[in-house]
Amino acid sequence: MTTAPSDPPPPPASRSARLRVDGVRLGYADRVIVDALTLDIPDGEFTVVVGPNACGKSTLLRALARLLVPQAGAVLLDGEALHRQPAKAVARQLGLLPQSPTAPDAITVADLVGRGRYPHQSLLRQWSAADERAVRAAMEATGVASLASAPVDELSGGQRQRAWIAMALAQETPVLLLDEPTTYLDIAHQVEVLDLCARLRREGRTVVAVLHDLNLACRYGTHLIAMSGGRLVAQGKPTDVVTAELVEEVYGLACRVVPDPETGTPLVVPRAPVL
Ligand SMILES: Nc1ncnc2c1ncn2[C@@H]1O[C@H](COP(=O)(O)OP(=O)(O)OP(=O)(O)O)[C@@H](O)[C@H]1O
Ligand SMILES: [Mg+2]
Repeated sequence: MTTAPSDPPPPPASRSARLRVDGVRLGYADRVIVDALTLDIPDGEFTVVVGPNACGKSTLLRALARLLVPQAGAVLLDGEALHRQPAKAVARQLGLLPQSPTAPDAITVADLVGRGRYPHQSLLRQWSAADERAVRAAMEATGVASLASAPVDELSGGQRQRAWIAMALAQETPVLLLDEPTTYLDIAHQVEVLDLCARLRREGRTVVAVLHDLNLACRYGTHLIAMSGGRLVAQGKPTDVVTAELVEEVYGLACRVVPDPETGTPLVVPRAPVL
């Protein structure tokens, strides 16, 4: 289902959605970035959020992760406003990879990934074999197990990014929110991380990722959300959402959209300039 910009907010999807955005206004101090936004994050799908720089993607993800309290409306998790639920309980349901995370000085990869286990611990339940297993599995899935004892600040950009993804994975949440998880990654590691997201989704998790690469977004996303200027422009299956008109409207880029020779999903080919 796609929606033109002038359409009213789309009706709630018929699929189930534990995480819903209900008429939210998001902003910083008195600057409104997103207004009257309503959408569902469909359960068990790989939702990809696309849109130009500064359109509000990270702002939306922060609100979905409870880091930003809406100025109006609410983000609902299981029908209850997220910001009214305890932080630790939410962190057992939603894991976030922020766009530009900062690690404490001199922390090692294993210790950073171990921080993902914090929501599962309490005074009565300290570090356990289950925590150890989750950390190891997350480091192996992201290919950083051999870097376990390396200081995070001595890693390459791509290695560091994968260590952060491992931290979010170690949290073992049913919903994963990843803000540009493929930034800094070479093409093979981009595909590896997106294959991992697809696998997590097949195993039953709900995955939400912000991606700039429309072609990868179309290959991997099972549900696409296109934003522009803080608004929802279109949502639905990649084949329905990503058209030459949409790309022109959202990015101001003239292009052709052809079937990806590997998958048949939309492939965006920018028009060559007339010289
Ligand atoms: N902490 C903040 N304080 C004030 N303004 C902010 C803050 N974070 C973001 N903004 C502003 O909100 C707007 C949306 O930013 P946001 O980070 O959500 O964009 P984005 O779509 O994720 O962009 P990008 O693709 O560049 O990551 C921008 O104009 C930005 O300057
Ligand atoms: Mg961003």
